[in-house]
Amino acid sequence: MKRLVVLVSGQGSNLQAILDACRQGRIHGSVAAVFSNKADAYGLTRAREAGVPAHALAAAQFADRDAFDRQLMLEIDAYAPDLVILAGYMRILSADFVARYAGRMLNIHPSLLPKYPGLHTHRQAIENGDEEHGTSVHFVTEELDGGPVILQAKVPVFSGDTIDEVAARVQHQEHAIYPLVVGWFADGRLKMQDGAAWLDGEQLPPEGYAWG
Ligand code: GRF
Repeated sequence: MKRLVVLVSGQGSNLQAILDACRQGRIHGSVAAVFSNKADAYGLTRAREAGVPAHALAAAQFADRDAFDRQLMLEIDAYAPDLVILAGYMRILSADFVARYAGRMLNIHPSLLPKYPGLHTHRQAIENGDEEHGTSVHFVTEELDGGPVILQAKVPVFSGDTIDEVAARVQHQEHAIYPLVVGWFADGRLKMQDGAAWLDGEQLPPEGYAWG
C-alpha cells in the first residue's frame, strides 16, 4: 500500500475523489496526511472527516518561501510518502521542494497543457472562443505547470457558457482522471524519466496517455 500525502488550498474536491478511490480499492494506497497553506481550506475538513491527519501552515509565520517549504518538507517527510499530490494547492513551490519530490509529485491543472499555464484558465478558454478545453495531470518540475503530461481529459465549451459551467464540467473529469493516475503510480506503472512520463515501460507522448 503506497503512502500518499495531499496538498490543498481550497475545496478539496479532488482530494475527496482520491480519498473515495482509496476507500473503494481503486487506488492501492492510502492518504497518510493532508497539508494546506490555508487553515480554513475545506479540504482539511474533508481529511478530518475521513480520519486523516490534517495540518495547516501559515505563510505569514515564515521569513520567506524557502523557510515555509523547508518546514513543509519536514512535516511531509514525517509521513514518509511515496507520492505527493498537489490538489488545488495554490502556492508556488521552491526549487528545493520540487527537487525533493522529483518523480514522485503530481499536479492537476485545469487546462489542456501546454495551453494556459497559470491562473484563470476557464476564462481564457471562453474569451478565446475555444470549443475544447479540459484538464491535465502531470509530474511536477521546476517549470510552472510545465512538467510532463500523464493524462488529459477534454470537455466541450458551448457558446454562452459561464466560467462556473465550464469549471464544473472540467472538475467532473478531474475527479475521474486524478484517481486513475494516482492508481497507476501506486501500482508502480508510472514513472518520470528523461523529462518524460512513462506508463508500463512506454514513453507517453507530449499530450499524455491516449485512450483507445
Ligand atoms: C482544480 O480544478 C484543479 O485543476 C486546480 O484547482 C482546482 C482544485 O479544486 N489546480 P478542488 O480544491 O480539488 O475542489
